[in-house]
Amino acid sequence: MVQHPPFDRQSLRGFLDFVEREFPDDLLRIKQPVSSTFDMTSVAFELEKMGRDPVLVFEKVEGFDMPVVTNVAASRKLLAACLGVEPGDLPTAFRERCQTYIPCETVDWAPWNEVVIEGDDVDLTKLPIPLQFSVDAAPYITAGQIVARDPVTGVDTTGFHRLMLKGKNRLGISLHSRRRMYEFHRRAEERGQALPAAITLGIHPLHYMGSMTYAYPPGVRKFEIIGGLFQEPYRLARCGVQDLEVPAGAEIIIEGEILARVHEPEGPFGEFTGYASYRSTQNVFVAHRVRMRRDALYHSVVSGMAKDHILISCVTREGEILNTLRRNLPNVKAVHVPHTTCGAFMAIISMRKTAEGEPQLAVMAALGTELYTKYVIVVDEDVDIFDMNDVMWAIATRVRAEKDIFMIPNAKGAILDPTSDPETFTLTKMGIDATRPTGKDFAERLVITEEQRGRARDILRAAGLPL
Ligand SMILES: Cc1cc2nc3c(=O)[nH]c(=O)nc-3n(C[C@H](O)[C@H](O)[C@H](O)COP(=O)(O)O)c2cc1C
Repeated sequence: MVQHPPFDRQSLRGFLDFVEREFPDDLLRIKQPVSSTFDMTSVAFELEKMGRDPVLVFEKVEGFDMPVVTNVAASRKLLAACLGVEPGDLPTAFRERCQTYIPCETVDWAPWNEVVIEGDDVDLTKLPIPLQFSVDAAPYITAGQIVARDPVTGVDTTGFHRLMLKGKNRLGISLHSRRRMYEFHRRAEERGQALPAAITLGIHPLHYMGSMTYAYPPGVRKFEIIGGLFQEPYRLARCGVQDLEVPAGAEIIIEGEILARVHEPEGPFGEFTGYASYRSTQNVFVAHRVRMRRDALYHSVVSGMAKDHILISCVTREGEILNTLRRNLPNVKAVHVPHTTCGAFMAIISMRKTAEGEPQLAVMAALGTELYTKYVIVVDEDVDIFDMNDVMWAIATRVRAEKDIFMIPNAKGAILDPTSDPETFTLTKMGIDATRPTGKDFAERLVITEEQRGRARDILRAAGLPL
């Protein structure tokens, strides 16, 4: 009998144990049978409409043996709890910890070695891969963390890339975010070689969070950043592709390669923009071997504009933009990337302005940090940037359009942004300075003091209103 080692704490199942123990109301086990077609996505969206975002475990998926775990990263409360902080401190805690690089620990044994399937026996259609939206071309693996090494420097990376089920051992893949994996594959292809890669399924939300970082020195491993988030070495083990290391606590490892100079249709797929995406780099992953735990859980990210897909992008962008701004503008207070702007396209910055022109500097720095972001709004610190009503009020009452709104045409935008040019992927970016002028009288904001609010609550309580 194998003793389960401490790396399980850094795993998906370790996270499920933590939530079940500390936040039992935030985990919903669904025991009745559901279909792998649409059901799991519809359940997550229905809960979101009710204002609820529990982790979901679908114990019985018709036609499959493996349970499906999803909606793992849909709640700021749980993500903050993973870092041991309050939800309001999440971007700052992330920002600070993702700059601490802790070397990884390589362990000799990983439970995903319990079952090994090779060659012709590999059959990815046996996994309970959901079909999420009617527009999707096929079922998609959405929680596949792909690990590969830079063919030039040997430094590895890990990140999510959507994977379209095409056959028993064939997956379509799109590297449209054009970060490290895109570049590593390009470098391998330049040498006429495929890129050896491994897909990791079943990870802890802190791995998800760390994998979304991009502004860090080239010699650093993303796994070391994930270690910084855990505040201890991230435990990895060698799999069977080249000398690649993957998380020891994972559920399933799919080993293979991203082919060189092979392009096949991939998509459409229901993306984070809330639209069907037809844009893709159209690459192909071929699987040679599958390793998994005997009682493996299948992890899926709810796609489209679901919080599971977007919330971590909000937090990581807030953290990365804050990291840049704080270097130059110590008077910047906080950054919010709202979920409703696809976790990407808009950033709101709060600052204690000390001189005219500072909001413009903040806008330029934010746009220079985050290519997906195209609208940046700067407000004074009296505005609650996490309350969009307050932000809209500041725009309505503090902006003089002819001087406070400025545009940057032909800037690089996100490939999946439906407003970006289909050939160049450029678009117009916009900054809005919604701060009051400095050194001049401006209209006085109406306020109700905390003391007055307390008195009002006492009066209402006495009137019989349950508060
Ligand atoms: C759920 C999810 C799915 C994603 N799918 C893709 C994808 O299909 N293609 C892509 O290029 N980026 C995708 N991304 C964004 C990348 O994972 C992200 O940019 C990551 O930092 C890239 O890592 P890399 O630097 O190793 O390439 C996705 C992100 C999330 C959260």
